[in-house]
Amino acid sequence: MKLTGQDIIKELQERREQARLGGGSKRIDRQHAAGKLTARERIDVLLDPGSFEELDMFVVHRTREFGMDGNTIAGDGVITGSGRINGQLIYVFSQDFTVFGGSLSAAHASKIVKILKLAIQNGAPVIGLNDSGGARIQEGVDSLGGYADVFLQNALASGVVPQISVIMGPCAGGAVYSPAMTDFTFMVRGSSYMFVTGPDVVKTVTSEDVTAEELGGADTHTTRSSVADGAFDNDLEALAEIRRLVGFLPAHNAAPLPRLAVDDDPARTIPALDSLVPENANVPYDMRELIISLADHGDFFELQESFAKNILTGFVRMNGAPIGVVANQPMVLAGCLDIDSSLKAARFVRFCDAFNIPILTLVDVPGFMPGTSQEYGGIIKHGAKLLFAYAEATTPKVTLITRKAYGGAYDVMSSKHLRGDANYAWPTAEIAVMGAKGAVEILYRSELDDTQKIAAHTADYEARFANPFIAAERGFVDDVIIPNNSRYRIIQAFEKLRGKRQQNPTKKFGNIPL
Ligand code: HXC
Repeated sequence: MKLTGQDIIKELQERREQARLGGGSKRIDRQHAAGKLTARERIDVLLDPGSFEELDMFVVHRTREFGMDGNTIAGDGVITGSGRINGQLIYVFSQDFTVFGGSLSAAHASKIVKILKLAIQNGAPVIGLNDSGGARIQEGVDSLGGYADVFLQNALASGVVPQISVIMGPCAGGAVYSPAMTDFTFMVRGSSYMFVTGPDVVKTVTSEDVTAEELGGADTHTTRSSVADGAFDNDLEALAEIRRLVGFLPAHNAAPLPRLAVDDDPARTIPALDSLVPENANVPYDMRELIISLADHGDFFELQESFAKNILTGFVRMNGAPIGVVANQPMVLAGCLDIDSSLKAARFVRFCDAFNIPILTLVDVPGFMPGTSQEYGGIIKHGAKLLFAYAEATTPKVTLITRKAYGGAYDVMSSKHLRGDANYAWPTAEIAVMGAKGAVEILYRSELDDTQKIAAHTADYEARFANPFIAAERGFVDDVIIPNNSRYRIIQAFEKLRGKRQQNPTKKFGNIPL
C-alpha cells in the first residue's frame, strides 16, 4: 500500500533514525569502550553546531555474495556531507566502524568520490575521518576499484582544495594511500594505526616480530616515517586541532586568505630578540622562541613537530593573515639541512605555494649534513627538492637570517637568488661559503701546526665574512634590521606583497626531483 501524508513523513523519520543508529547500540558501545567517538559524534564535534547537511544517507551496497544479500545498513559505513568550521564551508566524510567495520564497498567509495567532486567544484576543503577495516572483503575487486576511484579524486583535488585526513582507527592495506595523497594526515594516539601490511603478514614475509602499535601507531608515523603530520591524545583533541588548522587555510587555490581582525599590535617591538642569538656562534638557541614571539598572540600551529626537528614548519598569523613558517632549528644538529629536514620543508613550501600562503623563512643553517649515510641516502636529490620548491614558489616570500647562512644552504633557504621578495638579516648574521674554522683549515693547510697563525687567520676571516654586510653591499639582503623591530618589518614586507603577481614559464608541470 502506498503511504501518504503524515505516514510518509513518519516513514522518512523512521528511516533516518534507523540510519543514524549505524551498526546498532551494541557496536556503538564497543566503539565507546575503545575510547573512540562514533562517526556521527566526530562530525558533530568537528563542525559548527547544527551546520552538518548529510548526503547519501540511504545508500546501501549492492553485493549478493557471502550472505550479504539483504544484509544492508543505510549509509553503508560512511557518513558524508558538508558543514561549516567557523563559517567556512567544509566537505566531510566519516567512516563508521560500527557498520561492516567501516570497510570500503563500491557504494561506500562512491559516496566519498561524490564528496571530493563537490569539494573541487565548489572550492572547499575536504576532511576525511578514517576508521575502517579496509577493502570490504565480500566485494573483492569492486572494492579495489572503489579505492582507485577515491585515489583519482584525491590526485585531482590536490592543489585545488586543502585535503586533511584524520586516522581515528584502523587504516590498513591500500586504504593508507588515500590519506597519503592528501595534504595533511593526523593520528590519534593509542587508537589508530596505518600500515600496508599488518604484523601477521610482516611475520610471515620478513620474520620480524612487531606489534601493530610499533609497526604503524602514531609514534611510529610522527617520529620515524613522517607519514603523519601530528598526533593527538584522543578524538576530541584531534577534532579541535583540525578546526584550528582549518582557520589558517584558504578554501581553495584561488580563494583569499582567511584574515582575522587583529588585536596584537603589528608594530610591537620584542626587546628579548636583541639578545636571542648567543655571542658564541657555537651555542644554540631555540628558534621556536623567535617564531612564537613574531606570531600574533604567539599562536603557532606546528606540523611534523616530532620529525626532523632540525627544521620547524607550521602556520602562524601576522597582522591577522596566515603565514607558513620554515625555520632552521639550531638546537638540533645545529640546524643543518639533511635528507629528512629537506623533505619535510620542501613538502610544506609546496603546500603553501599551491594555496598562495606567504612563506616566512628564518635562517640559521651551517650547511648540509656531511657523511656517508646522507650521501648514500641521496641528500643531493632530497636537498634539491627543497631548493626546487623554493625556486618555483611564486607566493610571497620573506626571509630573515638570524645567524649562519653558509654554503649551498644559504642559497636554498629562500635566498634573494631564488626570488626571495624581502630578505633581511640581523646584525649577528654570518653569510659565507663556510664557517671560519673550516675555511681557514682549507686555505692555510700548510700552516695548521702554527696555532698562533691559524688563530690570526680565523679572526681575520671572521672579521671579514662573519657578518651580513658583504651580502648587503651586493643587495643579496635588502636590509640589516634591528632584531627587536623584526615583527614590524616582516609584517610591513608581507603587507606590501599582498598584490604580488608572479608567473613561472608556461609548462605542464616542473619535474621536481622526486
Ligand atoms: C568486511 C569487515 C572488514 C572488512 C572488519 N569487518 N573488517 N567486514 N570487510 N575488511 C567487520 C567484521 O566482520 C566485524 O563485523 C566488524 O567489522 C568489526 O570487526 P572486528 O574484527 O570485530 O573488530 P576488531 O577486533 O576491532 O578488529 C578490527 C580489524 C579486523 C583489525 C580491522 O576487523 C581486521 O583485521 N579486518 C580485516 C582487515 C583487512 O585485512 N582488510 C583488508 C585489507 S586489504 P561484525 O558484524 O562482527 O560487527 C585492503 C586492500 C585495499 O584493504 C587495496 C586498495 C588499493
